[in-house]
Amino acid sequence: MVNGNGKPMKSKLSGFHQLDAEEKLDLIKKFSDLTEEDAEVLQRTGALDMKSAEMMIENVIGTTEYPVGIATNFLINGRDYLVPMALEEPSVVAAASNAAKLARPRGGFTATSDEPVMIGQIQLVGVKDIPKAKDAIMLNKEKIFDIANKCDSVLVKFGGGVRDIEAREISTPRGSMLIVHLLVDVRDAMGANAVNTMSERIAPLLEEVTGGEARLRIISNLADRRLARSKAVWGKETLGEEVIERILDAYEFAANDHYRCTTHNKGIMNGIDAVVLATANDFRAIEAGAHSYASMNGRYEPLTRYSKDEDGNLVGEIELPLALGLVGGATRTHPVARIAVRIMGVKSTKEFAEVVASVGLAQNFAALRALANEGIQKGHMKLHARNIAVNAGATAEEAHAVAGRLIGEKNISVSRAKEILEEMHGQS
Ligand code: MEV
Repeated sequence: MVNGNGKPMKSKLSGFHQLDAEEKLDLIKKFSDLTEEDAEVLQRTGALDMKSAEMMIENVIGTTEYPVGIATNFLINGRDYLVPMALEEPSVVAAASNAAKLARPRGGFTATSDEPVMIGQIQLVGVKDIPKAKDAIMLNKEKIFDIANKCDSVLVKFGGGVRDIEAREISTPRGSMLIVHLLVDVRDAMGANAVNTMSERIAPLLEEVTGGEARLRIISNLADRRLARSKAVWGKETLGEEVIERILDAYEFAANDHYRCTTHNKGIMNGIDAVVLATANDFRAIEAGAHSYASMNGRYEPLTRYSKDEDGNLVGEIELPLALGLVGGATRTHPVARIAVRIMGVKSTKEFAEVVASVGLAQNFAALRALANEGIQKGHMKLHARNIAVNAGATAEEAHAVAGRLIGEKNISVSRAKEILEEMHGQS
């Protein structure tokens, strides 16, 4: 049997997790035919050193880096913010900054958010009398809350803790199930740890009072009690009436076409994920929640809405669940994430969510404005050409000139960039 690199090695590496990072890497080098240079690249850690990385996940052999850019111009609820964004895609940071700049003349963004309430789900199977079981849960509310709140006295001290409990029946091909939702205010945490612990701890009492058997006990990533909203007005004197009409048509395309809607929401997530990543938050949870929320009405819809106010200005709005954390998790342990939070200056997850929602709206506005007018390729091409030049071996100083020539010649290829570089080197 051979592996993906054609070598007779198995991916079943027993004892791999017990090796130190260097030994792990030696094995990977053999498995994947890596050179000394490759190994050095993997080990060349940035702000996140190897020891910290090994505390975060398993089987670590290195770290990876993304550029962190700063989106400027954000005025949200009367406060100025600089927003760190980590991502690999060109034009996103510039687009968000530009959209925020165009929103400033009319006050920037007005954002609100719900209290940070997350849902823990407990699945109960084999409940004989579901209506009776629901009543029993409600009768034991206080006892259940007490057990849950005892799991996290720090959270309770800071004003968080259990808020409510709900129970509902679902019918499945394997019979009826009773699904309990524990609603927990997680304050400045993302909440998964607290909610999962609470869900597990209350399960035995739920079993006792319902006669059922508790199976899954886990947070729901559809954080629909923890929504963030933002709104901005882009004035007709800034955009021009025709551009506003075009943006409205672009929005209706997304609102009425599943294929377009997916890309529309992807553009929103370009902005949102980038801030989430810069702050080492759980981007998978944010993504899952956002797209699930987009389908809440039974069909997949845009997370933003656009309309015209009575004066003909463009009004953009966004609403989505944002389960973000400032305490606990990697946001506190990743050195860059910690600084990213300080750059933003947000003091609570509510404020954080309001900033992130505003970035999502700005990103979407920028994409629609570009797409409905000149298209996005023109802007993209400059950065793309620069990347191609670097791929062809240009230094940072040479890249600008090479990119200019590639664009001028309408031939953005590595081979042409190499020729231009040879020419340049011949001349020097
Ligand atoms: C590209 O990453 C994102 C866009 O495709 C979003 C959109 O089409 O709205 C430009």
